[in-house]
Order: sequence, then structure tokens, then C-alpha cells
Amino acid sequence: MKVQIKSSENTIEIETNENNPLVAFAKNSIFINAYCGGKGVCKKCIVKYITNPPQPTDKETEIFTKEEITDGYRLICLHKLKDNDYIEVFEAKPSFSKIINNICVDDDKNYIAIDIGTTTIAISLISNGKHKDTLNILNPQVSFGGDVITRIAYSNEFSKETLVSVLNSSITKAIKTLKLKHNINSIKEIVASANPTMIAFFLNQDPKSIGEYPYTPPFVGSLKTKWNDIDTYIPPIIGAFVGSDITAGLINMDIKKNFLFIDIGTNCEFILKYKDKIFAASVPGGPALEGGGIDYGTIAKDGAIESLEFDSTLKIKTINNKKPIGIAGSGLISAIALLRQFEIIDTSGRLLESWEIEDAPLQLINRIKKNGFLLDNNIFLTQNSIREFQLVKASLNAGLQLLLNKTDININKIDTIYLAGGFTKSLTKKELINSGLLTLDKEFIFLGNSSLNGSTQLFCKKNREFLENISKRISYIEIANENNFQELYLSNMDFK
Ligand code: FES
Repeated sequence: MKVQIKSSENTIEIETNENNPLVAFAKNSIFINAYCGGKGVCKKCIVKYITNPPQPTDKETEIFTKEEITDGYRLICLHKLKDNDYIEVFEAKPSFSKIINNICVDDDKNYIAIDIGTTTIAISLISNGKHKDTLNILNPQVSFGGDVITRIAYSNEFSKETLVSVLNSSITKAIKTLKLKHNINSIKEIVASANPTMIAFFLNQDPKSIGEYPYTPPFVGSLKTKWNDIDTYIPPIIGAFVGSDITAGLINMDIKKNFLFIDIGTNCEFILKYKDKIFAASVPGGPALEGGGIDYGTIAKDGAIESLEFDSTLKIKTINNKKPIGIAGSGLISAIALLRQFEIIDTSGRLLESWEIEDAPLQLINRIKKNGFLLDNNIFLTQNSIREFQLVKASLNAGLQLLLNKTDININKIDTIYLAGGFTKSLTKKELINSGLLTLDKEFIFLGNSSLNGSTQLFCKKNREFLENISKRISYIEIANENNFQELYLSNMDFK
């Protein structure tokens, strides 16, 4: 079939047999926001049909006005492509950030550090021993599934090459943008950190073994290789679900302490260090805390709601104080913590109706509407988003309990908890505890994107040697497939 696609740059005609629009678009290098991987929950994949639009679904009549429906606005993941469709798309825009990463390089050459997240990719340029810029782009593979297991299934069933090529062309384009912006000709080396599935696609390896028992990655340990003719270093991979994104983060930790490191994302990984022993484990998380899979969710960017504060009035804080555009992972945690504090969400996770609430400020009660708790003009914390959060909370706490049981380490012996993830550093310990995400009363240190921060510090010999030595001491513990994981998972679903 033939389909015409209009973007801000041009109109192209594609010829395709693929009726999944997200996949057809991605195969033709058109990447639109699709954080939930086509599940119909993120409401980001908005397009406008220029030719006859399909019948709107119930979801679409809920989120679009009558005029918008008549004008042809739809969520494209809810429809199939038809011959002669003519559709206007709104492509995912890259964003620059000036995060000050810690750097460790041995010379003044140009380097690239990449964190290939399942949802977003961050690419930092280092030049003359300084961090120049970071470019954040959407991982174009979201069109093929929101999590690594779905993408491995797509790769097995259809085409690994498509997943490899969309990923590599996006990263190549982003590096080119950074080079042009900063007038740089050549890159001496890349450090790329990611989970083992993303690394496999990045290096054109088959990730199949990661998705099948006994769940093994294509390689363990570190790797020096070439990517597009550029020298590339991959920090050590520990197991199928504990990758170089986790080990790179170890650079930021005080290895003399007894600590627990938790990276919360689509997958939740743990590193537990006690005396001379270091263990690693992982459990599935879900995209909720990266703003995916939740209603009105967004990645952490300008305008994303990152925290709520109630002190006689409700204050909503957004990233860089911009107009609210959606809820970031930290905003979700903060909102749930506040509503739990006033028992507006009950222990089962149900958002109560106004008349059921006994003792909460009227200002908060008045924000309870049909769609959920009103955060800002047309942005709601919905019941669905609370449920998505509960899934992450349950998985994380069940995983942690199993890890502590299996290693026979008493949590009271741990000095510090390092926390990394797609949420921002604006979170407080109180919010983490009130939301039920973590119940441990310990010192918390927020690391932000520890994978990228670690990668920018791995261009020097000293740090690389340190990391290689530490990583060899890590024992991988399988917990997600333990018999009692499911039981613990269910028992951690409710709020206490
Ligand atoms: S990709 Fe369509 S709603 Fe998320």
C-alpha cells in the first residue's frame, strides 16, 4: 500500500506492507513520540489525518474535543494503516541539556558518552577535558515495543536488522548534530552504557538468548570494539538484565561503604555491597517512573511536573519552571506520596471519591474530578497511573526482599542507598517513603542518570581499571524467576 506522510520538514510517500503505523514510520526513519510502545496509554502518538480519518476509539473521544476529532486528530497506535492514507505527523524532537557531568579523560581529544536507555538515549560530547553538551533523543525502538522483552520478540519473529538500523541511524544522526554544533571533526572514542539488550542491538549482535531460559547475554564483562569505525568501550556486563548502564554507575559510589544501589526504570537493578561481597540482581519494573505507560506521562524535560508541595496551598513544581506539559516519574512519586499522606488514596491504591474523604484539606478534595486528581489545567493523576505505580512498587520491594533473603544480608548493616533512575533529584526521602516505593529509613543519595554520569568518567585509565576490578567481584543473583517472587510481588501491591 502507498501512504503519504507530512512532517514539519517535507511530505514523503512510503510503500509498505506493514499495517502497524509506528513500525511502518520507524522503518522509514520517521520517529514519533510513542513512550508506551503502542499500548494506547501514553497519548503521545498524536497525528492528524488529512484524508478520511478512521472511526475514533472511545479513548480518542475522551481525550480529543469534538472539533479535533472532526479535524482528523487521532492516536496513531490505535489504528492500522490503509492504502492511500495521508497523515500529518509530529516528530519526536531532540532536546539539548547542559547537565554538568563529571569527566575523567587523559587528554584533550573529543569523546562521546552514550546512555542507551530503553525509552530515551542521552549522548554527551566531551572535548578538551570538558563536558560540552548532552543531546537527549527518543529511542526509536519504542515503536517496536516499550520493553526489552517485546523488542527481542520482534527481533526473533520479524527483523533484528530493522531494530539495529533504526537505533544506529538515530545515534549516528545525534552524534553528527553534536559535532556540527560544536565544530568538531573527529571522535577519538565512544563509551556506550546500556542494558545488555540495547548493547546487543547497538553492536549488531543477536539478543535472542537474553529472552530465553537460562537468560544469558551475548557476552559478559567489558568489550573494546569498533562502532562505525570509532573505537568503542562497553563497560562490564554482569548478566542478562544487569548491564553496563549499572556498572558504569559504580564509579559514583563510595566503595568503602556498605551500600545498596537501586536503578529504577523499565527494569529495576540492584547492586548490594557488604564487606568484600558484591551482588547484582534485577526485576522487571515498568516504564511508569520514566513517564511512560501512565496517563499524561512525560520524560523528564522542561515543563514536566517533578514535584508537589502542600503547605496551605498546593504548589506544582515543573522542570525549569516551565508551563506544565505532563507528569514525570518524580512527579508521579511526589503526587502519590502527598495523596497517601492525606489518605486521598486508600491502602488498596484506590483514589477516593470526594465524599469518602474524612480529613483532608478542602483545596485537595476539590481537585478530585471524574478523570482523577487535577494537577494542572487538563493534567490528571489518574487511577490507571496509580495502578501502574503500584506494579513498579510491588516488583521493586519483592525483588529487594528476595535479594536480602538470598544473600542473608541484614538491611540494617547497609550505610547508604544510592538511587538512580529517570526521575529527577527533586525527590525527597519522605516522598519515597510516603509513596511506599522504598520503605527503608536510610541515607539516600540521588544520582540522577548514573549510567551517563558514569560513562563520562570512563575515558581515563584509572577509572576504567577500578571499574574492571570491581566488576569482576560481582556475583549475579537470579531472583525474578524464584518461586516465591510472585507471592511477594502480590503482597507488596498495597500501600501500608
Ligand atoms: S504510543 Fe500511542 S498512546 Fe502511547
